[in-house]
Amino acid sequence: MTNYKNRVLIFDTTLRDGEQSPGATMTHAEKLEIAEMLDDMGVDIIEAGFPIASEGDFKAVSEISERTKTASICGLARANVRDIDRCWEAIRHAANPRIHTFIGTSPLHRDMHSLTQDAMAERIHEAVTHARNLSDNVQWSSMDATRTEWDYLKRTVEIAIKAGASTINIPDTVGYTAPMESSDLIARLIADVDGAKNVVFATHCHNDLGMATANSLAAVIGGARQIECTINGLGERAGNTALEEVVMALRVRHDIMPWDTRIDTTKIMNISRRVAAVSGFPVQFNKAIVGKNAFAHESGIHQDGMLKNRETFEVMRPEDVGLSGTSLPMGKHSGRAALRAKLAALGIELADNQLNDVFVRFKDLADRKKEVFDDDLLALVHQNDAEDDRLRLKSLAVVCGTTGPQKADMVLEIDGKDASVSATGDGPVDATFNAVKALFPHDARLQLYQVHAVTEGTDAQATVSVRMEEDGRIATGQSADTDTVVASAKAYINALNRLLVRRERSAPGSDIKEVSYKDAGE
Ligand code: KIV
Ligand code: ZN
Repeated sequence: MTNYKNRVLIFDTTLRDGEQSPGATMTHAEKLEIAEMLDDMGVDIIEAGFPIASEGDFKAVSEISERTKTASICGLARANVRDIDRCWEAIRHAANPRIHTFIGTSPLHRDMHSLTQDAMAERIHEAVTHARNLSDNVQWSSMDATRTEWDYLKRTVEIAIKAGASTINIPDTVGYTAPMESSDLIARLIADVDGAKNVVFATHCHNDLGMATANSLAAVIGGARQIECTINGLGERAGNTALEEVVMALRVRHDIMPWDTRIDTTKIMNISRRVAAVSGFPVQFNKAIVGKNAFAHESGIHQDGMLKNRETFEVMRPEDVGLSGTSLPMGKHSGRAALRAKLAALGIELADNQLNDVFVRFKDLADRKKEVFDDDLLALVHQNDAEDDRLRLKSLAVVCGTTGPQKADMVLEIDGKDASVSATGDGPVDATFNAVKALFPHDARLQLYQVHAVTEGTDAQATVSVRMEEDGRIATGQSADTDTVVASAKAYINALNRLLVRRERSAPGSDIKEVSYKDAGE
């Protein structure tokens, strides 16, 4: 085994476990962009997706494999030949491809698969052997390891090692374990399992009891040398271990946890914002490391202490995670060069044609808003429509008043042709959404409608998130505008466009229907 005495590998699964959480669907282009950012920031292994799950997942994993420069690219596969072959097909062109295969080993999962301990053991042997014949970089996961009987867990891990797995992942699938137990389990496996010294042990925690970060760090103290995590802790239910939390904890408390990562921590804020935007899962204000308030000091006592010595109330500097200090806002007289410099300071490098598009949107915003702050710029940088969007908002005029109903006149481009309507509703947003429904009838149901002000003041931009559901498929759309109703219309249309993409992904004719890694039948 490579000597990872002083190193912890960072395995990011934002694009697999994170993207799989209901509503967090990303488009193909967004997945490529996030993969590039993960590679740039120094992630060791990127779990790019679950290739058998859908044609879209397969394409994304393949393209990420071909493009990624440094990180190892991993694909997920259930413990069967068909999944593993499909996974290998998607990742084989990566510089360092990894097959990650798994099965739930706890009594509940064995029941679900109707497999005895012996039958499941045989299945693990066959799956890992098959994967190992394709690649010398194979990761095995005994899913729900923390609720698997000790003897049986040990047995499954030994089988996987004997069959050739080089990484053994011990997932806390339902966020059930606690720090002491997490540490002890890894230490005991390393001490008792045959062949343990030749493999890397990994920890993969979920946050159901709010202990994912603590459990992951405890596992490292117990001997794990790979942490599986996601940006912003994105993931099903309460999410996965947050990359930014474990990385910063290892850095700030290096005195008691002396393990290094390769992560450039100054890239954390940017990727956090981008993942929040493309997944439609906003970061809670008081979230550790990346929350809007993580470095804000409002109370008098705190501000006074900070002015005298910032270490009084801060264990790390905002710059360490890529937050620039206070910066001057831009205005309508700011030019292209100033915009380029400002975006560069925010960690955003754009090609000339992209900068031109952003500049046009910036000027438009600056005409409506006196001061354009960093957060405004970040909200408008990624506002462009995707090339394959079927629906585009051309114009919207809303009539409001104390006596309803409110009225929305809308022109919508549908598959390249303009269509217009006048619709009414119970309030301006309802009238606007009714207009979209009249022009483009659909069965998708609105699950969530959320508005946030990007900055302070009555001329602030509003970011709107809309989550829609159709036949079990969920998509989230986002948009920002100084006009809340326009932002709402665009977010709704954005969610619909994403749903349409998802519908195409699993269209009849594609031989592989969308599956979730939790699907029992294989
Ligand atoms: O939570 C889990 O157990 C997983 C496995 C597929 C590793 O995500
Ligand atoms: Zn998981």
